[in-house]
Amino acid sequence: MHDFKFRGNRLYCESVNIESVARKVGTPFYLYSYKTLLDHFSKIKKAFSSINPLICYSMKANSNLAIIRALVKAGAGLDIVSGGELYKALKVGCPTNRIVYASVGKTEEEIIEAIRREILFFNVESLPELDLINEVSRRHNRVAQVSIRINPDVEPGTHQYITTGKLTNKFGMDFLTARKIFAQRKRFPNLNINGLHMHIGSQIIAGEPFLDAIRRVVRFIDNLKFLGIRLEYLNIGGGLGIIYKDEKPQTADDFARVVAPILKRTGLKIILEPGRFIVGNAGILVTRVLYIKKSINKIFVIVDAGMNDLIRPSLYQAYHEIVPLKKAPGRPARTVDVVGPICESGDFFAKNRKITLPNEGDFLAVMGAGAYGFSMASNYNSRKRPSEIMVKANKFFVVRKRQAYQDLLEGETIPSFIK
Ligand code: LLP
Repeated sequence: MHDFKFRGNRLYCESVNIESVARKVGTPFYLYSYKTLLDHFSKIKKAFSSINPLICYSMKANSNLAIIRALVKAGAGLDIVSGGELYKALKVGCPTNRIVYASVGKTEEEIIEAIRREILFFNVESLPELDLINEVSRRHNRVAQVSIRINPDVEPGTHQYITTGKLTNKFGMDFLTARKIFAQRKRFPNLNINGLHMHIGSQIIAGEPFLDAIRRVVRFIDNLKFLGIRLEYLNIGGGLGIIYKDEKPQTADDFARVVAPILKRTGLKIILEPGRFIVGNAGILVTRVLYIKKSINKIFVIVDAGMNDLIRPSLYQAYHEIVPLKKAPGRPARTVDVVGPICESGDFFAKNRKITLPNEGDFLAVMGAGAYGFSMASNYNSRKRPSEIMVKANKFFVVRKRQAYQDLLEGETIPSFIK
């Protein structure tokens, strides 16, 4: 599953004792296992080998240059959502014909740059966006490749904030609108509208929602065929769930066994956009216990990482396992809240969690923090953003240094009337 394991009482990442890293680099920090990262990429690649899809890692999950470079080197493309992600994708040398771009709010500036770079696809989410991409392409004398993002209106059974394939969500277009667009492809002379895209949500445990959505999309493709409209690509998005606690998500093999044959029958080139599946369990957040605070009816374990470092528990009530870097057999287990230093009651990593009561100064690991961890981190409370470390075998590498106080001033100025 992943390469974070106890050897005796010590938590290791691959062959590195994590506490020794913590003592060298200070806390809090993210730690990634290179091996776990690449293992998950190959797992999904192998599972779908019968249809040889292009796997565009969804870099919003974790866009550290070392992570995306490693995946691009292993053959991945990238799923981007902004000009900034395009910039980073180019920085790590991702071939532009392996970049797909989704977002309901692409700006003209972002569109121009993506057209100039000749990315593989715009995944288009609305009619006005289609018009704008057509217009920008015309001005630049280009023909842009476009997939229409379909909103198949299925319930993925995940947290409401990460449900994207219901018609009440802002994403994609309904089948009727999409059909009208395909029927009027000539209206967009500077677009090659030859693909369909879907992404129904994230951290989806069951297989049925995917199957349901894919079946609907395939039926739509058949209808288009009947109308003489042929496509070249089908992008089925990301969304595969991982284990945080005791979920039993379908494996990549389960998923592929069911959907690969259906996808194969379409004869289209297939694109996948996994994010969390690849990087989620490849990373942890390491933090140190500052204080054990006992109040009348609670024990608070106050740590030096906060919701600015990892916002998932606060935002989605997400569960992340918390383990010590050094087990202390014999110490009592207690029900505690593990909380950060930030001035909000929503700043917690665990509530009413039974863990071995740590000592002040002990290190804890928040597990499964590789996806949507650092990438959602902020400077809230003027906290420095944490460092990121990558482990390969028995070595570790700083892949992002911790911010310094002066970084907190970057770009800010005091106008002269205040000075
Ligand atoms: N493709 C598109 C168009 C997406 O919007 C997303 C994620 C993905 C692919 C990758 O989904 P994944 O395979 O990682 O599930 N911050 C939330 C998750 C937000 C997901 C946004 N879109 C969290 O921490 O759970």
